[in-house]
Amino acid sequence: MGRTADAPGYTARVPNTEPFLVPGDDATLESILAAAWSLLERAAAREPEDWRWPVLASVDPGEPERGAADARVVVLRRADARAWTLEIHSDARAGKLAQLRAAPQACLVFHDRARELQLRAWVDASVHEGDAIARRAWDALHASSRRAYLAPRTPGEPTAAPDANQPAGFGARLPDAAESEPGFAAFAAIVLRVRTLEWLRLDRAGHHRARFEPDPAGGTPAMCWLRP
Ligand SMILES: Cc1cc2nc3c(=O)[nH]c(=O)nc-3n(C[C@H](O)[C@H](O)[C@H](O)COP(=O)(O)O)c2cc1C
Repeated sequence: MGRTADAPGYTARVPNTEPFLVPGDDATLESILAAAWSLLERAAAREPEDWRWPVLASVDPGEPERGAADARVVVLRRADARAWTLEIHSDARAGKLAQLRAAPQACLVFHDRARELQLRAWVDASVHEGDAIARRAWDALHASSRRAYLAPRTPGEPTAAPDANQPAGFGARLPDAAESEPGFAAFAAIVLRVRTLEWLRLDRAGHHRARFEPDPAGGTPAMCWLRP
């Protein structure tokens, strides 16, 4: 049973129209792992899923005065259950790139409010700029996404007045393929190799928490229950 609309402090739970996606009381470790990848793949495929917008946490070795941690929202662009990889995109000039190069061990946090699910993915990040992986990702991007990479100035740069950092000449108009091509120089695809997944599902009848790790040889993943 999920939380109900009359439970104090909670808004009405959005009905889970596809309950098969989230294993219930009879959940097994195998069914949970399958559900986690299924939800990740739906989110990456532009389904209106909360997991499309995870928080990426990274280590900021260059800013000790701000503390060692940094985090921001990103869009999940790809999920590959077989390879245990996820993919996100960024402007290559953004601060997170220097962080991930210096410390590739990062963590993605996914939250699904309606299903009361949290998934944490500890990952090793590899940054791809100007290579075949970046090209494949770039070629699949819609013009509206490509336009962001035409930003003339470095993201995060201080400015005296508000500046949307948009390219001149594309007010409401989207660039065509040729016009957007210069953006490839500022485009980075970040492939995240998953080392550990941790699932947490809140449920009045008893929370479920479990951890999964891929087998380096491609065999059966290691999995275990954790006390919530
Ligand atoms: C809904 C939403 C989606 C976002 N998606 C991305 C994304 O896919 N990639 C990205 O680099 N930044 C994305 N951002 C912006 C980041 O949260 C962040 O502000 C920006 O990347 C600069 O972070 P950095 O300085 O740590 O690199 C998104 C922000 C929001 C609010």
